Amino acid sequence: MGTPPQGKQFTILGTGVSLPDKVLTNADLERMVETTAEWITDRTGIQERRIAEPDVSTSVLGAQALRNACDAAGLRPDELDAIIVATSTPDTLFPSTACWVQRRLEVRGMAAFDVNAGCSGWLYALEIASNLLAGGHSKTIGIVGAEVMSKVVDWTDRSTCVLFGDGAGATVIRAAREGDPPAGLLSANWGADGNLAPILYQPAGGTQKPATRATVEGNEHTVHMEGKEVFHRAVRAMASAATRALKSARVTTDEIKLLIPHQANTRIMRATCERSGIPAEKLYSVVHRYGNISAASIPVALHDALTEGRIERGDLVVLTAFGTGLTWGAGVLRY
Ligand code: ACO
Repeated sequence: MGTPPQGKQFTILGTGVSLPDKVLTNADLERMVETTAEWITDRTGIQERRIAEPDVSTSVLGAQALRNACDAAGLRPDELDAIIVATSTPDTLFPSTACWVQRRLEVRGMAAFDVNAGCSGWLYALEIASNLLAGGHSKTIGIVGAEVMSKVVDWTDRSTCVLFGDGAGATVIRAAREGDPPAGLLSANWGADGNLAPILYQPAGGTQKPATRATVEGNEHTVHMEGKEVFHRAVRAMASAATRALKSARVTTDEIKLLIPHQANTRIMRATCERSGIPAEKLYSVVHRYGNISAASIPVALHDALTEGRIERGDLVVLTAFGTGLTWGAGVLRY
């Protein structure tokens, strides 16, 4: 398909994760709500998920993942020029979770901010970071996807509580230097349709509906989702974003090593694969062991794929995501 465009050049120096030790299996959920392990596995592919302890917030997991990514990169956290945290479950409404991550890492000075784009958040953050590097003002950026979904899930609602898990993944990227082998984002696209905000949201706790006794009693501080609608839109949006990313990178599905989609559920990922013409064996999935960890799902999956040796330097990987907003995005990454 000709020479691929250069795109945004950067090197992934290191990745890291932080996953709570506590495992909640489908069998455990059978004892909590009216469900069966079989139903959950059949409909979602999820077998277990990690759950944070009550005193663990999103920044605890995010800071640990970023520290691990910095260690893997051979850098100290204070050498980062910016920290971007993608999350839908921030520590506080303000300041940003990225600032709490700084505090936990005992670093200061570099820019720190959050990206709130749901499950697409880490991909949005990667797009922003790659542009910051291309602009030349930043050289090294830590991008974190971190969530404690268990604290915003309604544990009496069987249609949502079986889906989510907690965790964080982080990636340290550095602007390309003279002589670096080609690497970075060959192409990327992103988008949103805020008109569909009410199909997946947390109704209370913000300025639309501040917390009151009634909002707490009405379970309005939890995930509210029209599951079927989200399912269909997720498949369409992730497949078309991936197809557009491949086309603008001028890369064929044969040339890619892996597809790492947002890990929502196996059926969504398989349908995305099929719709975008990517062979099923190139689909990389970790959803069976972590559930849907929203913005953390892609950086955690990327880390696991690298750890398992499924991706090597120079390989092409398609990343695609979809989430609350609704938001979506995709990119072709040369590792
Ligand atoms: N156990 C047993 N039965 C259940 C459960 C459960 N945990 N949850 C729902 N059911 C029941 C429903 O009550 C319904 O019963 P009814 O027919 O008597 O009314 C029946 O199962 C079928 O429910 P559906 O909602 O039609 O089931 P569906 O096949 O759509 O699967 C699911 C539900 C898994 C939630 C699916 O819609 C889905 O995956 N949606 C996407 C949700 C998602 O991943 N969201 C994450 C955030 S966005 C993102 O990350 C992309």
